[in-house]
Amino acid sequence: MIYVVGGGPGDPGLLTLKGRRVLDEADVVFASPVVAELLGVEAEPSTRRNHGEVARRAAELSGDGNTVAIVSSGDPGTYGKVDLVLRELAEAGLDADVNVVPGVSAHQAASAALGTPLPGDLCTVSLSGSRDRMTVERRLRHGCRGGFGLALYNPRGHWEEALELLRTELGDHGAAVVRAATRRDASTRLTTLRDPALDDGFDTTTIVVVLPPDAETADGRVFAPRGGEV
Ligand SMILES: C[S@@+](CC[C@H](N)C(=O)[O-])C[C@H]1O[C@@H](n2cnc3c(N)ncnc32)[C@H](O)[C@@H]1O
Repeated sequence: MIYVVGGGPGDPGLLTLKGRRVLDEADVVFASPVVAELLGVEAEPSTRRNHGEVARRAAELSGDGNTVAIVSSGDPGTYGKVDLVLRELAEAGLDADVNVVPGVSAHQAASAALGTPLPGDLCTVSLSGSRDRMTVERRLRHGCRGGFGLALYNPRGHWEEALELLRTELGDHGAAVVRAATRRDASTRLTTLRDPALDDGFDTTTIVVVLPPDAETADGRVFAPRGGEV
């Protein structure tokens, strides 16, 4: 059996009970060195670059009767590793039972750190530079025009184009930058889209939340109505 386990945003307390049990009982665990350290597990290294090799090794090992866990940070089905593993197995014609264990995704951790800025309908968009720019822009535009709160993963990718589009669509609108949510060095910054320093310090653990139009701020906490009847 192969488990693809959501490692959560970093705080080991946010790994699900099932995720922890699978990691404790697995014969072999694959995880990025950073995630392995955060969760306190011994693991063979898994990165974006070696996912093919990891999937094939996992299939081989599980074929020999081992239980294998591949850890994917956050939720494995949200810009995570599930599709990579499944595609690799299918392309290599390898047969393996794959079980996905969901995890807490970065936008949920960021939202909790801020208050409740995304309590209802929302759009997540990855700005990853490996994605087609036109697709990213089209989706962002629809998100803005739909009145959604937006959670922007991998903001360093198509940032310049995204920011220009967001400013055109929304003007000087509220936004928050959340870094390393739930980790020891976590930070949150409430600001607006016109802030010239908005992208200062973006790194691989930064997510940007563009607040929904009806969000309010009080004492540094953000809240928005969830929509519908209470
Ligand atoms: C490849 S995606 C993986 C997302 C992951 N599967 C999830 O569900 O959170 C990596 C991006 O997630 C976001 N991210 C991951 N962990 C984060 C954290 N602790 N705080 C803020 N953003 C985070 C960042 O935008 C980062 O560039």
